[in-house]
Amino acid sequence: MTEATKAGLEGIVAGKTSISTVGKEGLDLTYRGYSIHDLAKKATFEEVVFLLLHGELPTLTQLNEFIDQLMSLRSLPPELQTVLKLIPKDSNPMDVLRTGCSMLGTLEPEKSSSLQLSIAKRLLAIMPSMLLFWYQYHMGKGSIETSSESEKTIAAHILHLLYGHPASPSQIRALDVALILHAEHEFNASTFTCRVITSTLSDFYSAITGGICALRGPLHGGADEAAMEQISQFKSVDEAEAGIKSMLSKKEKIMGFGHRVYKYGDPRSDIIKEWAKKLADEPSKKNLFSIAERIEEVMFREKHLYPNVDFYSALTYHFLGIPTFLFTPLFVISRTSGWCAHIFEQRANNRLIRPIAEYVGPLPKPFIPIEERN
Ligand code: SDX
Repeated sequence: MTEATKAGLEGIVAGKTSISTVGKEGLDLTYRGYSIHDLAKKATFEEVVFLLLHGELPTLTQLNEFIDQLMSLRSLPPELQTVLKLIPKDSNPMDVLRTGCSMLGTLEPEKSSSLQLSIAKRLLAIMPSMLLFWYQYHMGKGSIETSSESEKTIAAHILHLLYGHPASPSQIRALDVALILHAEHEFNASTFTCRVITSTLSDFYSAITGGICALRGPLHGGADEAAMEQISQFKSVDEAEAGIKSMLSKKEKIMGFGHRVYKYGDPRSDIIKEWAKKLADEPSKKNLFSIAERIEEVMFREKHLYPNVDFYSALTYHFLGIPTFLFTPLFVISRTSGWCAHIFEQRANNRLIRPIAEYVGPLPKPFIPIEERN
């Protein structure tokens, strides 16, 4: 008889990784050994992607080559554009990305696992194009050009496609930091989904599509959109205090709070909170920021719960003028880098992932012919 496992595999070590450390005693959140605080302050998202995929930070030459490669991979095949146009305007944009990823997999199939790095770069480069092509098409902008190389970085490219003009350096850096913070996080639900799919020797696109599907849920990546909905329902700090207390009394979840691993705070939250504060540069934004801080205070006082990466990321995206329903797709664009790293790692030392269950069903029974059943 196996020891009963805590629900949701809580605390279960499900494998080895050398990619990141999350919530390890006395250890910061690190990617390939580098602290998230150093990376968020001193690196760019492209440096972090290179680090995750290759295991080391790039030299300046390697970084410039990597950026040029990603820029050259942004174009959308005509067949993919046709499919994106067919996806209804009121669809969940996460469904756009999972459909787009699957369609790309039929147009540019993974003929050999030796092509995995090329596919990883293609997916990292094309995700913003797929998302914003669909979005702008349904905003009446027709078929926008997504392969322009006027913007070197992914953050700048996303904002330019969204705004229709170049973003400011501080807007670009705010999104760049958010992408760094969302890039990787050990065996979270969507990454573990990618690893399970990879362990069956399925293809790269199936694993990434599975990751997108898992991230969609509001208990995981979808929390940023749900958090924004909750924050924006309040007009004042006092209204927020009363509202959150009322929700808690009804056992409702306050999105963007709590974490399966971090019980004393998510190290990413303070970093992105600083950026939300920087972007709160006018009265309405300052009011929203103070409402968010009051919610944080109430959640600690009433439940001893801390904000996770999603809470202040939601505010940061909102202050950047990003529509709420595009928040979680930004998580996909970022986390595709971590997913790719984990697919590489799983393939490098693969064994089918197949845990067992603790059986709690009925004892063996004799078969009853259908004519005797009532
Ligand atoms: C991400 O795993 C990762 O690393 C994920 C992630 C990543 O980078 O990949 O960090 C990204 O997904 C962050 C989490 C985003 N999700 C949310 O913000 C949704 C709201 N949070 C909760 O649903 C919850 O905190 C989870 C899902 C994040 C963690 O859930 P657990 O570990 O299963 O904890 P639980 O639901 O069993 O809660 C324990 C207690 C319960 O109270 P009691 O019933 O024991 O009285 O804490 C309470 C819960 O009700 N609780 C909350 C709460 N989170 C936990 N109460 C109100 N609001 C919350 N947000």
